[in-house]
Amino acid sequence: MLSVVEVSANDFLVGIETDYLFLWVSMDNKFSESNQVKVVSSFNELISMRFQGENNAVCWFRDLKGDFSEIVSKLQAKDDITDISIQDLLILPLSEEGVIARDIIINDLNLLQDLGALPVLNLIKSYARDEELGFISTDVYSYHVDRSAEDTDTFLCTYHGAASDIIANHQAEKKVLIPEIRQKLEALYDGPDEGFESFLSEYFFDLHYQPKLGATSINLDTGHLWKLAVDHPGQSALPCIHRAPLENQGEYRLLLIC
Ligand SMILES: [Fe+2]
Repeated sequence: MLSVVEVSANDFLVGIETDYLFLWVSMDNKFSESNQVKVVSSFNELISMRFQGENNAVCWFRDLKGDFSEIVSKLQAKDDITDISIQDLLILPLSEEGVIARDIIINDLNLLQDLGALPVLNLIKSYARDEELGFISTDVYSYHVDRSAEDTDTFLCTYHGAASDIIANHQAEKKVLIPEIRQKLEALYDGPDEGFESFLSEYFFDLHYQPKLGATSINLDTGHLWKLAVDHPGQSALPCIHRAPLENQGEYRLLLIC
């Protein structure tokens, strides 16, 4: 059942009700003020929205009902990053609120799978750190863009725990173009000049960005399903610069990503 419950100049609320699921969508939210972010109110809009100009992130804005923390507390972490299957979710003994959360996650996974995407649900304690060089890091805690040879986008939703950040392209610079960093990479590189750019890309140095002084990031928050632009040959918009957050002490993250 689709019900429009309130319409005003600044606020447009739509509720979608099913047996287990109740979603609220507010078009009046903190993301609306950003040129980088377009906010939509349905999955269909999310997938059909094309990136344009400064816009390289689309948010299906949702205030999810259900208890996602219950799911996290009942899942078994096997490693720093544990892949959680639908079967793993289905065997959890859950309260009514937990069941609502589980149905939302499974619904999201199915929506993306039906598109031909390969979403994974990760229970995350922490990601691996790249501290080898010190002056540049290529781990996911560093601002970076995703690159793909195929025409694809990144989708992600944080259901529980700290959420990722994005930053506008004009507020960051490629680390490999910062003179001090580039000089150190040149010193590290042992090969012909014409191979230097390939070296930067082979070790993913060219994907990483440094926020400019005074830059403001946007936190993606929990519950919303995001589509971010990826660096690939068919993409007209700039790729979306993002990073994984530092996890909150003692708290696992539950993240859908593909
Ligand atoms: Fe990424």
